[in-house]
Amino acid sequence: MDKFVIKGKAPLRGEVTVSGAKNAVVAIIPATILAGGPCLLDNIPDISDVGYLFEILSAMGAKVKVLSATSVMIDTTNITCTNVPDDLARQLRASYYFHGALLGRCGRSGVVMPGGCDLGVRPIDQHIKGFEALGATVNIEHGTVSTEATRLMGNHIFFDVVSVGATINVMLAAVRAKGLTILENVAKEPHIVDLANFLNSMGADIRGAGTDVIKIHGVDIMHGTNYSIIPDQIEAGTYMVAAAATHGNVLIRGVIPKHLEAITEKLVKAGASVVEYDDAIRVSGECDELSSVNVKTMPYPGFPTDMQPQITTLLSVAKGTSIVTEGVWDNRFKYISELARMGANIAVDGKVAVVQGVSSLMGAEVKASDLRAGAALVIAGLIAEGTTEISEIHHIERGYADLVGKLRGLGADITRKSYPDMAMNITA
Ligand code: EPU
Repeated sequence: MDKFVIKGKAPLRGEVTVSGAKNAVVAIIPATILAGGPCLLDNIPDISDVGYLFEILSAMGAKVKVLSATSVMIDTTNITCTNVPDDLARQLRASYYFHGALLGRCGRSGVVMPGGCDLGVRPIDQHIKGFEALGATVNIEHGTVSTEATRLMGNHIFFDVVSVGATINVMLAAVRAKGLTILENVAKEPHIVDLANFLNSMGADIRGAGTDVIKIHGVDIMHGTNYSIIPDQIEAGTYMVAAAATHGNVLIRGVIPKHLEAITEKLVKAGASVVEYDDAIRVSGECDELSSVNVKTMPYPGFPTDMQPQITTLLSVAKGTSIVTEGVWDNRFKYISELARMGANIAVDGKVAVVQGVSSLMGAEVKASDLRAGAALVIAGLIAEGTTEISEIHHIERGYADLVGKLRGLGADITRKSYPDMAMNITA
């Protein structure tokens, strides 16, 4: 079993560069199927979700050649299969993007219900509604979702809820549908825009990504491209919060400050100083104490749900009472019981957490229940007195490239330790 071991109380100082955006790349890699030719992708983050996607594409007959730590050549010309291997599909949420891409290119797909973070019920009714509106039939049998269409036809689709996944999946299929598709009430996250830019660079005709309405004129032919993934908004936000929470001073490089505005606003309200540059942002928490702030998570441009655990951790040691409302997921407060082990005083009622700031946290043995919960516990470990050991770190490594190396570069005392598996000990 692998753990992060953190000795806390050291303010983070120095510079860190963020990697490519996880939630963009996990859509863009499946989207290479639509190219039917070679795509050179750059600024790929070194995270385990990316590794699984490469394995899936290879298993489907694509050529995946890793050229450097951040670049890869993917050639999907000769894919031979429209089904994603079950064991790989279960490893991550984004495996469901193979539906949109395969429907668009081959008119059929089969993917077992996806894995990913356990944040409560994660329905895919809006994905299905979109595929059906484009003329596909969708079946769910024995936990596998299959789609089929003789010819996708453009349509006008109004999503009942704002969904990143459904917006992406239906865009992927619609780029090859005949005629015009209009998607309304869509997600506007930076990764939606990045995917649209990527698809357009492969010959698609998508307009309006980043607004509430996306218009897609279907095209018959797409082609390979060279593309660089945008920086990760949530990784950047995590370092911003870590810098403020440890009362440090960090320059975070390679970011798009506009994507970080909702996070910046809350940190400034809490008493941190934030300075924006063209492609960097400096966060300093060199004040005596941070103060309480209320936060409600919402789809972009609102405060991102994927930053909720991290900001709540900061607020757990801010002066006063903060109200944190989770506006996207049903069950994203599971990490609070772990923070409580470290001395946090937080009461949860449904989708609302009431955070009573304490003077400090204490190191403890805690468990990461999902990706951002794990990031929050890392921040907790950085600000706590004593040693924190975090287990189940595979969740964290799904989405943060070289977390240990980057934090050590900022002066944190964090190590990744491998412990022998208990079960193996018993048999040995
Ligand atoms: N929803 C439905 N029906 C659907 C789809 C979604 O009711 O068909 C609901 C969900 O239950 C949820 C809300 O709509 O209440 C938003 O879900 P969305 O579809 O936007 O989420 P997602 O696409 O499954 C992505 C990210 C998540 C991030 C959310 C919200 C990826 C691979 N995942 O999930 O990222 O929290 O958008 O921004 O892009 C993470 O990175 O830690 C993470 C969980």
